[in-house]
Amino acid sequence: MKKLVVTGALAIVTALGISGAFSQEEGPPMWAWGVTTPAPPPGTAPPAAAPAPAAPAAAAKPADPTLLSVPGSKHQFTAAQITARFAPADWFPEDHPPMSPIVAHGNDKATPQVWACGFCHMPNGKGRPENANLAGLPHSYIVQQLYDFKTGLRKSSDPRKANTQLMIDFAKGMTKEEIFEAARYFSALPSTPWVKVIESDTAPKTVARGGIYLTLEGKDAGTEPLGDRIVETPISTHDFEVTRNPRSGFIAYVPKGSIKKGEDIVRTGATKTTPCTECHGLDLRGTDKFPPLAGRSPSYTVRQLYDMQSKNRAGIGSIEMEPVLVGLTNEDFLNIAAYLASLEP
Ligand code: HEC
Ligand code: HEC
Repeated sequence: MKKLVVTGALAIVTALGISGAFSQEEGPPMWAWGVTTPAPPPGTAPPAAAPAPAAPAAAAKPADPTLLSVPGSKHQFTAAQITARFAPADWFPEDHPPMSPIVAHGNDKATPQVWACGFCHMPNGKGRPENANLAGLPHSYIVQQLYDFKTGLRKSSDPRKANTQLMIDFAKGMTKEEIFEAARYFSALPSTPWVKVIESDTAPKTVARGGIYLTLEGKDAGTEPLGDRIVETPISTHDFEVTRNPRSGFIAYVPKGSIKKGEDIVRTGATKTTPCTECHGLDLRGTDKFPPLAGRSPSYTVRQLYDMQSKNRAGIGSIEMEPVLVGLTNEDFLNIAAYLASLEP
């Protein structure tokens, strides 16, 4: 029995030698963080000029009285209303149940202050690739994550990721009641398609801004080789940055063949890990305990896999993921995320 185990371990090591370096030796796959420069080595202080949190360009002109619209909404808002941290615009109130106070307004009296969850995660919970999709996550899972942020067990592998630092501060400012209230709201929301996955050798030319890639328009528009990365970009830069339209989704360009390779790992373990379906459900839509993986942002998924493998995310649930992630490389993470994002949520 013992001999079998040893032989098995050797076989895995040999297989890994062929398939590439461990993710932790390679460092974080920076494309998933929406930045183009490498993360500082672990233990070093973040650079003094950390990038500002993802804030729309329009926030720079709060006094502009121009009323903006989005197709299908009967409401109009100014740029300042759209980016109000404690009362962000709600374009489609008919798309979700009435928001609870913490989701709609946050808490400006708390220390640290808590911004409205709906500002970053959207009133419909679908979020954006640089934060997280919360729609339909299990109630107990949401509560646990907020406590993990609060107690320092969940952070990003790139200390420059300013919005994760904000998320940590918000969790610290939240009361137990607010945590349960937010979990009740987001766990009850339906998950619906939000990212379209396209296998391709090329991607549109983009610029990295606010932790995400934005497609260049006008005279700068064009295509470029995709290489070993996923380019996840809003369908419309205007909808994303200016109006924050919660009905306008994302496209993810993934390398040719990545979906099939990811499917093998996710469904069979591909001799290197446990099939993900064992815990996350046969349809990968999660259970009342395990979070859903289908149809979520592939950049988010890769960041989480890397963060859990590097133990920057090390809450009680992430410990269950540790053995699953041991032998996986950044390339495996990319393939897994491409497949998972291609599924109906
Ligand atoms: C500044 C934007 C911002 C605001 C406002 C915000 N969050 Fe977040 N949230 C984030 C980011 C960024 C992440 C991803 C963190 C990471 O890197 O792991 C996140 C992740 C989460 C997660 C983990 C999701 C998962 O699948 O594990 C939960 C739960 C969450 N937020 C709840 C909330 C709640 C509740 C509020 C309101 C009190 C809120 N957030 C407000 C930015 C924000
Ligand atoms: C033994 C059970 C188990 C298996 C097998 C498993 N997971 Fe998980 N997974 C979990 C648990 C528990 C969590 C919640 C982690 C936490 O609470 O921080 C999780 C969380 C995740 C998350 C983070 C989701 C989010 O919303 O942030 C991702 C991504 C993930 N798993 C992907 C995978 C993939 C890919 C596989 C297969 C290669 C896999 N998991 C296999 C138990 C498992």
